[in-house]
Amino acid sequence: MRHLIDITDLSQPELDSLLDLASEIIENPGKCADACKGKKLAALFFEPSTRTRLSFEAAMLDLGGSVIGFSDGGSSSAAKGESVADTVRTVGCYADIIAMRHPKEGAPLLASRHAGVPVINAGDGGHNHPTQTLADLLTIKREKGRLGSLNIGFCGDLKFGRTVHSLITALSRYEGIALTLISPKELPVPEYLKASVIEKNNMPFTETVDMEAALPELDILYMTRVQKERFFNEADYIRLKDRFILDAYKMKNARPDMSVMHPLPRVNEISVKVDDDPRACYFKQVLNGKFIRMALILTLLEVLS
Ligand code: CP
Repeated sequence: MRHLIDITDLSQPELDSLLDLASEIIENPGKCADACKGKKLAALFFEPSTRTRLSFEAAMLDLGGSVIGFSDGGSSSAAKGESVADTVRTVGCYADIIAMRHPKEGAPLLASRHAGVPVINAGDGGHNHPTQTLADLLTIKREKGRLGSLNIGFCGDLKFGRTVHSLITALSRYEGIALTLISPKELPVPEYLKASVIEKNNMPFTETVDMEAALPELDILYMTRVQKERFFNEADYIRLKDRFILDAYKMKNARPDMSVMHPLPRVNEISVKVDDDPRACYFKQVLNGKFIRMALILTLLEVLS
């Protein structure tokens, strides 16, 4: 049985096949309309979500399957003290596949050992978010036509931003990726990621607090919000939250073909005026997220039409 807990659970050929399958579905949306008839997805969300939960649900419905689950752990028996292990063992009796978001890092991994059905990590604390990474890779491939030879700037909360951690890990497998890490000094990429992924794979990288100086060199700017829910001290959050704001004026210094990405939700870090710029890709990421999750469900359930 296959799970997706960490993006490295997928081999390079498997990753490429998923991206190809998602592109096929985009070209021919009716292709898999009944592929998951009779199958159920359980969406177990112990943390808030708009895109990830609803795109998983939309993906399964578009595959002809059905969905069960909850969007608030407080409405489940976890509120009475039930363990993650018992919760997923129970849900595995009702569903064919589980997508789980949890504030505790490692909870989906633990779930995968007890569920009896495939488990997908839909985001665990400040750790990983592999299906967002799949959506990001699909977006990069469709926008740039390649997944290598790119200078990618990551900007914002690189410490707690789990989408950043998963995407950097995935990009480490491709040739010619250079990283520009733009963050406040208090929110850098974690040391473990720097040592075990960036330096281990000899990825060229620079760290800076100067977004405007970095901007003209980038092929892609991946913005992130400061992750309020991970702060222990609200004063620190308030001090850091608006440190980087991308606006139409700053976009004048970016390359004419630079893509602006953001996993969303956005707070203030991208001005809404940038939304009309053809370089803004973040709502394309949202849509790509549904198609790549369709491809993932088909693959993990081994239901390929
Ligand atoms: N990108 C993302 O994970 O969004 P949600 O928190 O809305 O699911």
